[in-house]
Amino acid sequence: MIVFDSNNKVFYLHTKKTTYAMAILEDKALLHAYWGKRLKHELSPDWINDMEFRPLAPLDFGRFSTDMLPLEYSTFGSADLRVPALEAEYGDGSTYTRLEYVDHETVNGKPALCGLPATYAEEGDKTETLIIHLKDSLRDLHVYLSYSVFEELDAIARSARIVNMGECARINRAFSASVDLIGTENADLIHLDGAWVRERSITRRGIVPGNQSIESRNGCSGAVHNPFIAVCDKEATENRGNVYGMSLVYSGNFSAGAELSPFNSARAYIGINPQNFSFVLESGESFQTPEAVLVYSAEGLGGMSRVYHKLYRTRLCRGKYRDIPRSIVLNSWETTYFSFDENTIVQLARDAKKIGVDTMVLDDGWFSTRTTDKAGLGDWWENPDRLPSGLGWLADEVNKLGLKFGLWFEPEMVNMDSELFRNHPDWALHTPGRATTPTRNQITLDFSRKEVCDYIIDSISSILDRANIEYVKWDMNRYMCEVGSSALPAEKQGEVYHRYILGLYHVLETLTSRYPNVLFESCASGGGRFDPGMLYYMPQVWTSDNSDAVDRLRIQYGTSIVYPYSSMSAHISVCPNHTQGRITPFKMRCNVAMPGQLGFELNIGNCTEEEIEMSRETVKKYRELEGVFHNGDLYRLVSPFETDMSVLQFISEDESRVILCIDSQRGLFNGPDQYIKMMALDPDSQYKCGDKTYYGEYLMNFGVHFCNKREHISEMLIFDKIQ
Ligand code: DGJ
Repeated sequence: MIVFDSNNKVFYLHTKKTTYAMAILEDKALLHAYWGKRLKHELSPDWINDMEFRPLAPLDFGRFSTDMLPLEYSTFGSADLRVPALEAEYGDGSTYTRLEYVDHETVNGKPALCGLPATYAEEGDKTETLIIHLKDSLRDLHVYLSYSVFEELDAIARSARIVNMGECARINRAFSASVDLIGTENADLIHLDGAWVRERSITRRGIVPGNQSIESRNGCSGAVHNPFIAVCDKEATENRGNVYGMSLVYSGNFSAGAELSPFNSARAYIGINPQNFSFVLESGESFQTPEAVLVYSAEGLGGMSRVYHKLYRTRLCRGKYRDIPRSIVLNSWETTYFSFDENTIVQLARDAKKIGVDTMVLDDGWFSTRTTDKAGLGDWWENPDRLPSGLGWLADEVNKLGLKFGLWFEPEMVNMDSELFRNHPDWALHTPGRATTPTRNQITLDFSRKEVCDYIIDSISSILDRANIEYVKWDMNRYMCEVGSSALPAEKQGEVYHRYILGLYHVLETLTSRYPNVLFESCASGGGRFDPGMLYYMPQVWTSDNSDAVDRLRIQYGTSIVYPYSSMSAHISVCPNHTQGRITPFKMRCNVAMPGQLGFELNIGNCTEEEIEMSRETVKKYRELEGVFHNGDLYRLVSPFETDMSVLQFISEDESRVILCIDSQRGLFNGPDQYIKMMALDPDSQYKCGDKTYYGEYLMNFGVHFCNKREHISEMLIFDKIQ
């Protein structure tokens, strides 16, 4: 609910449990006033007057200094010397922007963001959008701040649109959100970091005076940092305390962080990385920032995650597969790598059928001259030697077995040894006069160019049109360097990274709406582009190239800080694990994969009878439980980052079923007994697990007994409420 208190000039954005407030100061400056637990009453009008005057602060806003004010969308050039949200450069070389309030409007629902992925509202949702218009009168530069309030889901989606009505201007920085958190003494910053095959570890550090940030500069969101931060109280835990989450719906370079001022306020911000970014706005042109999703939780990190999960699952992911059970795939990659022919794939599918897999996915190596990673990327037609009968035949053979057929693409890349590159060397990103350095023998196509996007749309469409392909794995296997576009003039080279992402979104929008029955899964050497932007087009992501069960406990747990298990593709693979060599029991591999989007990355033909039987059982059990994993609420009970174990609890939407996933990374022989205290149960109801029955009260206060005496023990306990 959006309320404007016109006497005191305060906006209140209320969700079920939270309030976000802004105030117009002396008819001009838009201030951030409050973000936290839902308020029943208005703020005291003195909230701003009580602020201490600081010697030496220039009074550039009447009796106030912007250096001290909690600004809602700060600009460079004023007395406010903290990290600004907006930085513009004008024709005379000056860089001072001064925004003042003009007016505002409230609309029902949520307008779409032109060309960008974003959360959305559906008919019947209690979602309203407030648009606040600010203006720099000297430059005739207008900023429209947009706040969509998801009342039921407890989240606020924020973005800014900058419209230049003056002479030509250049936008050098335009964050999506910046929030001056007042009284942020003793706070921590949480973010998700890692690298290839160890994506999204949880980093938590104290916020110290000055600016601390995480950034991506590689052209995509990346595996090194994820476009998300949370600021929280020092005492905040998984289940208690104030947590302020900011997540960016964007797949390119980003910057997010917090700057602690000397006066106890931290400016938390998130948006496109200003490094190598500048956007020219001629008179009448506009720039739309991506969307930032803000979530406040008084129930610790877990409370914040549950809000993101539900919002992203139901109001970010789209399409036919958003709400229905998805395919259980068998992917060929770790079985065949580049060595296969059409009969190999049919045989893999035949064996997969035995365990109940429903989709056979042919990974890399099926096209053009691609028999190694040295050639062929960009040439999207079948390799006639490998697939002499064609993709149509192969899909039909797989379909005849009763399975769907899926195919791998890596559309954003090109091998220098390809027809595409020989014909269009200027279609790749490059810096004039410099060598273009390949990695994995590939360079990046220039998706900022329309003709490149059109070529990719046409090539992929022609494949999808001539074979019955019902699943697509969209891969992307390199970070960008030596970035430049031969299609843009010198003064617009700062637009290339962002235009690349806009081009990518255009391609994805076109293909996903042209092929609504295809289930698209995104991948970037595993989870190198696991972000809300990609989830808008593809509801699931290959979480990591590391499918080792122990490592996956941490990768999936870290990913779940923001993203639901329904978005994490998780496959059972062979041992020793191909990425890191560890041997884990088959049961553990099944149990760890099951809460995600289950699949297989192994040759069923090489499995033992016992493994085949366990796979069959796993598929059956998964089909019975996936609704709880994917639509229910997650409680993270024991962290694999802090202990030798990992315990997750999923509760079904109707609260009738609870699943406890207990896994041991390392055990201690004759170790201590542990009592895992479950959460959010009905204390007075009884829950049946196997042939035992417990009161909810007992499970939450006494706990479930577990002895972590061996490494790699894996248990999945199912509790059904009986009264
Ligand atoms: C990287 C992906 O993460 C793998 O699953 C596989 O598809 C390879 N690329 C194929 O080149």
